[in-house]
Amino acid sequence: MRQLNPLGSSSAGVLLVSFLSLVQISKAVKHGDFKTCAQSGFCKRNRALADQATAAGASRTSPYELDANTVALKDGVLTATILKNIGEENVELPLVFSFLDNGVARVTIDEAKRMTGQIELRHGSTAKKERYNEAAKWALVGGENFHKDAIIKTEDGVTSVAYGPAGYQVKITHKPFSVKFLKDGEAHVVLNERSFMNIEHWRPKPEDSDGNKGDDTWWEEAFGGNTDSKPRGPESVAMDITFPGYDHVYGIPEHASSLSLKETRGGEGNYNEPYRLYNADVFEYEIDSPMTLYGSIPFMQAQKKGSTVGVFWLNAAETWIDIVKQKTNVNALSPERATTQTHWMSESGLLDIFVLPGPNSSWLYKQYGDLTGFTALPAAFSIAYHQCRWNYVSQDDVKDVDRKFDKFDIPYDVIWLDIEYTDSKKYFTWDPLTFKDPETMLKTLDKRERKLVAIIDPHIKNDKNYAIGNELVNKGFGVMDKTGKKIYEGWCWPGSSHWIDCFNPAARAWWKSLFDFKKFVGSMPNTWIWNDMNEPSVFNGPETTMPKDNIHYDNWEHRDVHNLNGMTFHNATYEALKTRLGPGKERRPFVLTRSYFAGSQRTAAMWTGDNQADWSHLAQAFPMLLAQGIAGMPFAGADVGGFFGNPSKELLTRWYQAGAFYPFFRGHAHIDAKRREPYLAGEPYVSIIRDAIRLRYSLLPTWYTAFHRASWEGMPILRPHFVMFPDDEAGFAIDDQFYLGDTGILVKPIVSEGVTETSVYVPEENMVYYDYFDYTMYNGKGIRSVPAPLGSIPMLMRSGHIIPRKDRPRRSSGLMRYDPYTLVVALAPGGAGGVLYVDDGETYDNKDGAFIHRSFIYNPGDKTLRSGNLHPEPAKAAKYVKEMRDVRVERVILVGVTDEWKDKKTVEVKQGSKTWDAEVKFVEGKEGRASHVIVRNPRVAIVKDWTINFA
Ligand code: GLC
Repeated sequence: MRQLNPLGSSSAGVLLVSFLSLVQISKAVKHGDFKTCAQSGFCKRNRALADQATAAGASRTSPYELDANTVALKDGVLTATILKNIGEENVELPLVFSFLDNGVARVTIDEAKRMTGQIELRHGSTAKKERYNEAAKWALVGGENFHKDAIIKTEDGVTSVAYGPAGYQVKITHKPFSVKFLKDGEAHVVLNERSFMNIEHWRPKPEDSDGNKGDDTWWEEAFGGNTDSKPRGPESVAMDITFPGYDHVYGIPEHASSLSLKETRGGEGNYNEPYRLYNADVFEYEIDSPMTLYGSIPFMQAQKKGSTVGVFWLNAAETWIDIVKQKTNVNALSPERATTQTHWMSESGLLDIFVLPGPNSSWLYKQYGDLTGFTALPAAFSIAYHQCRWNYVSQDDVKDVDRKFDKFDIPYDVIWLDIEYTDSKKYFTWDPLTFKDPETMLKTLDKRERKLVAIIDPHIKNDKNYAIGNELVNKGFGVMDKTGKKIYEGWCWPGSSHWIDCFNPAARAWWKSLFDFKKFVGSMPNTWIWNDMNEPSVFNGPETTMPKDNIHYDNWEHRDVHNLNGMTFHNATYEALKTRLGPGKERRPFVLTRSYFAGSQRTAAMWTGDNQADWSHLAQAFPMLLAQGIAGMPFAGADVGGFFGNPSKELLTRWYQAGAFYPFFRGHAHIDAKRREPYLAGEPYVSIIRDAIRLRYSLLPTWYTAFHRASWEGMPILRPHFVMFPDDEAGFAIDDQFYLGDTGILVKPIVSEGVTETSVYVPEENMVYYDYFDYTMYNGKGIRSVPAPLGSIPMLMRSGHIIPRKDRPRRSSGLMRYDPYTLVVALAPGGAGGVLYVDDGETYDNKDGAFIHRSFIYNPGDKTLRSGNLHPEPAKAAKYVKEMRDVRVERVILVGVTDEWKDKKTVEVKQGSKTWDAEVKFVEGKEGRASHVIVRNPRVAIVKDWTINFA
């Protein structure tokens, strides 16, 4: 976001030193710009309520009661009314409890008076009276498979519903209202166990100016010079959610925190503030913090040995989550284990909770993906390397960088233009002096199948001479101020700006029209888009964003939709790009977004925003990216090199080695940072960085295969230890090493200075792990020391896996399309297996079956490697298979062979009716390395069934 003050030109050493220390000091988040829980009225109120309930202990009572007379179950959906006892009257809170076939259950609570508009708005507000009930419309794509045969029973004030797979049950205690979610009689999730449930019902503002005014944050809230008029008064929703016996919880990005979430109510090593979800442009954000960041996914996974469950809190308003852990002895024989207790609080909207039963990670991610959609299978180029900075200053600069990458033999696929390419920050224009002829520049890039990503932000310059700005105003497509009648004006990059309101379907249609080649003149089919600042970032707004009482389409207050705002914008861009080439020529768009919500994975990739060029930020990135994967949005990266500041060469080099394992891999730098394209680093750094980028390119087939699995099953691309080994509690907090997809590749990138070796936790007793590069063997469970001098990346191959790669260096991934494969077989006594998914990487023809999906299995019994088909309807792939028929396997490497293989000179290859021999070479492993054999050019086709017999 904002630029740092440019360095002064003082030459006096002393002055410079003290100035530099000032710069250093300024590199920390301004806490005062963002609310603490105590400064956010509803968070403060709900925490206070929680404290009271906790203090009251057993004598606490929750005022909520399920009215037994209202309960009805039909077709898997239970409806009832919850009564909130507030003394003289009961507030009616309609409950809808849905039970899905797959064991997922949803609890939705609304408020009768607001539903039916029986409330009065203050200050003449035009806002809607209802609680916001459209978050589902944006976030969900499923959740309608109701379990029609759910069985209900009410006894002794408890309503039980049996539903979903056998053994699933929900028990609703009527008074006070609480809910237990059970599997085989054991509770895994409990709502309102601690009586923190709170639905702030509507009430008129008391007239009397002294006495009974209610809480001082009910009617108005001031922060940082802005006053929120709160026309609907207090309306928060809150619930305590307990995970009995679950000692780790994960998810709820975006926070610069550990993967295993920390406790938030103080104590050693814990936070004092809840995790906050309120999308914001946090300048110079700090690490190890529960502070909010740019995006929000209110999905949490709880893990205990052998079981996992999840909770999805569907609410787009400002949200805070407290976490505490209670130690309990489950029984005398089991060790002490914790129960995790969470407390969720949102400022407005419905109380809408999904409970996802797991019972393991792959089921859980599938359940979450069935609700919110899976990550889109990306365009193939977009998982290769991206080169960005703020800014490449001219088309000549772009062409020069492009040439230099080639000169230094460093592959890259995409070059990026930040805001300076525009004519005075007017999006859809080009600077007339520096980008006179963007088409020629784009054609140059296209020669090597390279792309350009240009930034387009949601703030539209308020300038009478800007046609798009005028159209926005005249058509009424901007977000309105609190009157609902006047377009909202604030400050961002262009100065005075308005914001497109993508909640408005007509505004989205207009947005789409702006991407027409005739309108966005100078852009070409190889131009893709970066949507930044879409929290939205407003430099002069409260907490750098929009006032909560601004009004969106259909009169919803910004308060209600804040965390959805960014997603509506990148969705609109995605829709525009998809059909840019016209009907029948749809392509998979690439859109990068900074702000996001649950569901964003369907249309965009994200990055972790404005990090800093220091080691701690390099280390922080992996826990953040792992959390993105848990929360269903795995297409995620961090600015390689660090956005603010200048990395040392060592840091830059290590960052490339780490970045080669970011699902979204992009180098980026602030406008004040020195140039740091990889070829500028000097030796040995350039060579090491080149190797890291080439490593990424060689593994692109496995990355793409991992993305494919994420796109239909939701399995994260970077898999944390607990996902791989759910019975190994010792590794549940590990977030600095991870596995790449299904490949068994275990990576522990170096994220600190001066390192020459590192400890890797090898989690299995009976599996050999081979060093990826030299096949050193690591046997047995435990912490292993792995050498890690600057030139190397600690990377092990779990035995039992087969890894497809492409080892010929090229200038871009597009040029590798028909390159031959290398298969690396990491042998285990039981054999080895692997998967490869390939398609055109660009269109949606894959949806019609145009893809290749192969399994590779090595069977130690008959010493045969087999390629088999996984495509369910191979006939549909015929045309694509024809295109790929000449793509071969050029090398097979079997790692971990015994000396018996020594004299092997040839192997027998069979494909279709033909048989031939291929040459094989044995390489003896010395000094703890595994022996391996290399089959040279077996000439088998990637599209065919074949066998290679080593017997
Ligand atoms: C924001 C983005 C950053 C970008 C800058 C200028 O700070 O996070 O990546 O370079 O804006 O557009």
